[in-house]
Amino acid sequence: MKVLVLGSGGREHALCWALRRSPTLSRLYCAPGNGGIAAIAECLALDPLDAPALIAFCQEAAIDLVVIGPEAPLVAGIAERLEEAGIAAFGPTAAAAALEGSKGFMKDLCARHGIPTARYRRCDDLAQAQAHIRAAGAPIVIKADGLAAGKGVVVAVSVEEALAAAAEILGGKFGAAGSSLVIEECLQGEEVSFFALVDGRTALPLASAQDHKTALDGDRGPNTGGMGAYSPAPAMTPALTEAVMDSIIRPTVTAMADEGRPFRGVLFAGLMLTAEGPKLIEYNVRFGDPECQVLMLRLESDLLEALVAARAGRLDGITLAWREQAALCVVMAARGYPGAYARGSLIGDLAPAAAAANVTIFHAGTRIEDGRLVADGGRVLGVAATGDSVTKAQARAYAAVDLIAWDQGFCRRDIGWRAVAREKDGATKA
Ligand code: AMP
Ligand code: GLY
Repeated sequence: MKVLVLGSGGREHALCWALRRSPTLSRLYCAPGNGGIAAIAECLALDPLDAPALIAFCQEAAIDLVVIGPEAPLVAGIAERLEEAGIAAFGPTAAAAALEGSKGFMKDLCARHGIPTARYRRCDDLAQAQAHIRAAGAPIVIKADGLAAGKGVVVAVSVEEALAAAAEILGGKFGAAGSSLVIEECLQGEEVSFFALVDGRTALPLASAQDHKTALDGDRGPNTGGMGAYSPAPAMTPALTEAVMDSIIRPTVTAMADEGRPFRGVLFAGLMLTAEGPKLIEYNVRFGDPECQVLMLRLESDLLEALVAARAGRLDGITLAWREQAALCVVMAARGYPGAYARGSLIGDLAPAAAAANVTIFHAGTRIEDGRLVADGGRVLGVAATGDSVTKAQARAYAAVDLIAWDQGFCRRDIGWRAVAREKDGATKA
């Protein structure tokens, strides 16, 4: 099969890396890709949002499947534009991608179908929002309705902070994405990410992961796209997985089908494990980045076969095999990220780190310039490793990080801390 992956991040590098192992893959393209993806796929200077250009290329190259990585093309309806042109695409339609594209839509769907999530109120008027925030008190969560590159959520610890966030968002900080707000109850508990592959009717659980969203050690600093992840999340026991499938994932898939928006693709649930059971924080309609990197390191089965089956509505009967091992990914970002950062700094030879046992390096924002690797984004590299425990995977990943000479980069030094503490605790008790 000839496959085209859309996107340019670490997630897409991991998808290309996993697809390359498929016995049915004959040719792999990525648009636009990055400096690392270029080593395993043919990179194309095509914009993932440019449907006519994508269709022309896919028809000429006889592409059998397009795998859409990021949310923006999904929310923009690229999957159905390709399908309408007779090109098979993996990923939800715009109507189904509204689960991520409109937080208000997601909350209303949950309310209509009894899916456990934080209590909420939608508001598009500032005076109304202010009155609601004052009445509800803090802590309280303020969200822009639409896509805001992961920056549209404020978990406010005071009423003043919540009022300021509401005013900023409704005042146009995120453009049209912020013309409406969701104001939510603040959930307490441990956060986990859970992934399922969905074919419109059937949902197949993938695996769990835990992400580290803030820029600095100790979960401090500003929110980012994700500074590191590991899988599985120890908090996500088999019993909890069943509970999440039964109370959250399957009811959502059924609700979407019944409402005429069947969901096909990867459903990524951000969950809070609360005292009252797991509750949905948010949905994404794609793999997470960097969660995808650790999932792909653990997936034993043929990814391409699974994606083809999901797209064709044939997931019933498919089972996926996962390695028992843990996987952990440390993101190396450009100094300044998630604020302003410089592009173009030189990254030293990655070969020694990449050659370390059980280590895989995924590129997130790099390009090759005059034969040399340079940084070309905020998140630049994902240094990932596997091991019998998260502790081992973490030690291997950081040993590899320390072999990379890039003085304009930084990373958190505590990725996996929760699981490592649990493992230490378990070892002490054993
Ligand atoms: P999002 O951009 O929707 O992923 O939200 C960013 C982060 O905000 C989540 O990963 C949570 O840590 C936090 N968050 C969002 N909604 C809530 C909520 N209702 N209660 C507590 N934390 C939340
Ligand atoms: N790492 C979080 C996300 O991909 O949305």
